[in-house]
Amino acid sequence: MQIGIIGSGAMGSGIAQVAASASHPTLIFDNNPGALHRSAEKTAAGLEAQVQKGKLSKEEAERILGNITYVSNLSACSNCELIIEAIVENLEVKKQLIRELEMIVSETCIIATNTSSLSVTSIAASCKKANRVIGIHFFNPAIIMPLVEIIPAIQTNEETLQKSCKIIASWGKTIVKAKDTPGFIVNRVARPFYGEAFKMMEEGFADMATMDWALKEKGGFKMGPFELTDFIGHDVNYAVTESVWTAFYFEPRFRPSISQKRLVEANYLGRKSGKGFYEYTEGCTKPEPDKNEILAVEIFERVLVMLINEAADAIYMKITSPNDLETAMTKGVNYPKGLLAWANEFGIEKTVTLLDKLYEKYRDPRYRVCPLLMEMTENNCLFKLI
Ligand SMILES: NC(=O)c1ccc[n+]([C@@H]2O[C@H](COP(=O)([O-])OP(=O)(O)OC[C@H]3O[C@@H](n4cnc5c(N)ncnc54)[C@H](O)[C@@H]3O)[C@@H](O)[C@H]2O)c1
Repeated sequence: MQIGIIGSGAMGSGIAQVAASASHPTLIFDNNPGALHRSAEKTAAGLEAQVQKGKLSKEEAERILGNITYVSNLSACSNCELIIEAIVENLEVKKQLIRELEMIVSETCIIATNTSSLSVTSIAASCKKANRVIGIHFFNPAIIMPLVEIIPAIQTNEETLQKSCKIIASWGKTIVKAKDTPGFIVNRVARPFYGEAFKMMEEGFADMATMDWALKEKGGFKMGPFELTDFIGHDVNYAVTESVWTAFYFEPRFRPSISQKRLVEANYLGRKSGKGFYEYTEGCTKPEPDKNEILAVEIFERVLVMLINEAADAIYMKITSPNDLETAMTKGVNYPKGLLAWANEFGIEKTVTLLDKLYEKYRDPRYRVCPLLMEMTENNCLFKLI
């Protein structure tokens, strides 16, 4: 089955390599010839590095490269059975591309979008045969991250959904299904990890180094929110938060942080610019955390209950299934535990009590308890996981 990838940036290049590794003849198109050239060079260099490290045989690397064809004309994709677009995150540009694609491809070709923040339904609406359009959301870097969120638009038919799931699973990826709502699963449920930590820092509750340390030490997270967003890039992380917040009609739970916005405005984007919350220039050392046990527990529990509340809301609003939610958070953002299993272990009633305390203190609706957690407390029950 021939696969087409449109956009040869970070995501498109990775997805093309994943498809090619799964033995598909894969075409990759970009409207910028320079980007196409860079993609070819980067993929070849990445595979060569794998060969040098002994992780891949030379033959295998050649086979993968041989499966990828870089094309400078969109019409070359006419025989593809699945096309995944990974072009710039702009609704109008994506819609225009989908309209052009529909004139080229066969009736049965699935057209997928890798959008992280736009409505798949809105993208699908640009297609005459909208039931063939679906969201297939890979995580960065696509060759390494196992998770793929599959998002049917409200127009998507069952055949498109089933076929897409089958193809992506056959590429060795772990798939989860999500409703077409802002942030899908991971980019929605993970928001408090950053937002609540930034708010606590702004209030002077604790400094960044202490919060990063506390969340690693008490929560087992691989990185704290400040070092992680410095790593992701504040431009990228802030854009996701702002887009989720705006798309949810300015829901206070997703309210962005002014401190992070200022970093973006100053071009202090994190590691890639040498400065973010922390400094990354030569000779700079990270500030020492305050290893106060009581403070560490307070920091961890406040962030955890906000994450649990968000996860519960995603279940309450039927965004995904409990098991898919657990898979998404452990495989998409490497959380040490699924948030629902964590909620069961931490205590549903304790979660509700801590959230209520925050609500009483701030009178801010961002701390309102999800009705599902309240019902569970009343009925003394736990999340059911398989
Ligand atoms: N970077 C991430 O972490 C990440 C993760 C998941 C999903 N996404 C989504 O994937 C998509 C691509 O992101 P990226 O980070 O790879 O971006 P990128 O900027 O690295 O690459 C985008 C590429 O698309 C090309 N392009 C733009 N308009 C085009 C058009 N009309 N036709 C053909 N090519 C065109 C550009 O030349 C560029 O090479 C976006 O929708 C983004 O939201 C990104």
